[in-house]
Amino acid sequence: PTRESWMRLDDYLTDVLVGHDSALESAVAVQDAAHLPSIEVAPLNGKLLHLLARMIRARRILEIGTLGGYSTIWMARALPEGGRVVTIEAEPDIAQVAQSNLLRAGVADRVEVLVGRGEHVLPTLSGTEPFDLVFIDADKESNTLYLDWAARLGRSGGLVVVDNIGREARVTDADTDDSQIQGVRASLEMLRDDPRFDATALQTLDRKGWDGIALALLA
Ligand code: DHB
Ligand code: MG
Repeated sequence: PTRESWMRLDDYLTDVLVGHDSALESAVAVQDAAHLPSIEVAPLNGKLLHLLARMIRARRILEIGTLGGYSTIWMARALPEGGRVVTIEAEPDIAQVAQSNLLRAGVADRVEVLVGRGEHVLPTLSGTEPFDLVFIDADKESNTLYLDWAARLGRSGGLVVVDNIGREARVTDADTDDSQIQGVRASLEMLRDDPRFDATALQTLDRKGWDGIALALLA
């Protein structure tokens, strides 16, 4: 497909199945105005996260990598009464943008934004009630660390989703010196070798380009 054709299809499917949503659109607008990178998940993929959460009746969701809170809003809207999203953002300024977006979307009461690097924040969640869904979407160099914490903090039978496992097929380059690609490759090998996971991957071709997500079931 040409870029024009897959963008046309992405627009069409988004129009038909997602439609317009002012809170989500303004979250992206606020994120752009704050000069944050436009690397939030595509609308169709945000809705996929939302539906996955509902399908598994997730009550507790952990997100690693908040950015402007776009995927956070999608997942928070999937929660039943009393449910919770815990989301981790390394940069305090970015966490503030997310917090204002969560307030505007009316989900701030269900979301806890924890500010700090995942490697420091994740250990503080030990001993809390297990998570049903973990969405990993932060610095790719730390993907294996995040997967390890997902397995520790997720419930047996829980779901782990890892964003950006395709990167325009650059993940196929075993000799790359790109540390992000190395991090993605290491995480895919961990999903294969670590008995705590059973995983597959889904390629995506949408307004964010050619990429993909990995889906893993926790033992
Ligand atoms: C990048 C990170 C992401 O999580 C994403 O979805 C797209 C791009 C990046 O760091 O370039
Ligand atoms: Mg991502």
